[in-house]
Amino acid sequence: MAKVVTLAHYYTTPEIQQMADKVGDSLELSLFARDAEADIIVFAGVRFMAETAKILNPNATVVLPDRGSTCSLVEQTDVTALKAWRESYPDHVHVSYINSSAEHKALSDWIVTSRNVDDIIAHLYAEGKKVIFSPDRNMGAYLNFQYGYDMPLWSAVCEVHDKFNQKALDEGFASVGDLPHYLIAHPESPLPVLQQADYVGSTSGMLNWVKAFDKAPESVIFVATEDGILYNMKLARPDLDIRQAPIYAGCQCNQCPYMKLNTIEAVKRAQQGQGVVIDYLTPEQIEAARVPIDRMLAFSERQYALNVAVKQPEAVPA
Ligand code: 13P
Ligand code: SF4
Repeated sequence: MAKVVTLAHYYTTPEIQQMADKVGDSLELSLFARDAEADIIVFAGVRFMAETAKILNPNATVVLPDRGSTCSLVEQTDVTALKAWRESYPDHVHVSYINSSAEHKALSDWIVTSRNVDDIIAHLYAEGKKVIFSPDRNMGAYLNFQYGYDMPLWSAVCEVHDKFNQKALDEGFASVGDLPHYLIAHPESPLPVLQQADYVGSTSGMLNWVKAFDKAPESVIFVATEDGILYNMKLARPDLDIRQAPIYAGCQCNQCPYMKLNTIEAVKRAQQGQGVVIDYLTPEQIEAARVPIDRMLAFSERQYALNVAVKQPEAVPA
């Protein structure tokens, strides 16, 4: 019988996360996919994640549950234009966020995730390199601001995170009155939001920040990212008041439409091998895209204690 491994990103619904063998951020899921001894890897995430799994584990059949699971950072990047942009900086290292197509990755020297982007770019600058960064303009602007870099940036944004804004946040903060409040944010959010954040990091990074929270118990924690991970945060710390950061008046929703296409039915079908099989990458494309991903994984495995073997708890919080 075929061995099936199901991976889910934190932005999928609790029901999908409970169907998975592993839930994690992009870095953890990439490592898990690489090392999975599976005939079929079902990737309940979006297409660039499934493509990365195929690049790292080319002998497995990788299945994406729904054809529509794209990512706006991928959709907003025309690879022909990107190639010309990259070639206009011949003496720069091209660092690309993992939210990119396989073709895009093949035009990159390093791939990064939100978990390791700060450390990898710091490492390159420490070596005296010049860097260009694609495709996420918000993430690049934050890095330039935070560390005083002058990286030329590609200009794409995540349609979900780009909705966070300072005005709505100020209203949200005012709504809690005198209660102490904190903001944690994903680096795909706009710079004015990130400048107000008490912590900026990957989905796993934000979850770990919440788990370790030891300030006043009556504090309100606002979370500027896709709402799926609030499930994991509330499960880990039911004692805390954790809220979605507001977007604009009348709308508290902040959902990635592409992640939410991973329905129970679609994932069940994918576990039978039906769905979008990632079988269109040529061996040459896989080889070219793997080089910058391997660089990132080797760096991360040296740098961090990565726990990629944990199964998520099953209980749904009240
Ligand atoms: P993480 O790697 O932080 O999980 O981010 C993935 C993503 O797509 C965020 O929008
Ligand atoms: Fe892409 Fe944004 Fe969805 Fe993440 S939340 S997968 S960056 S569209």
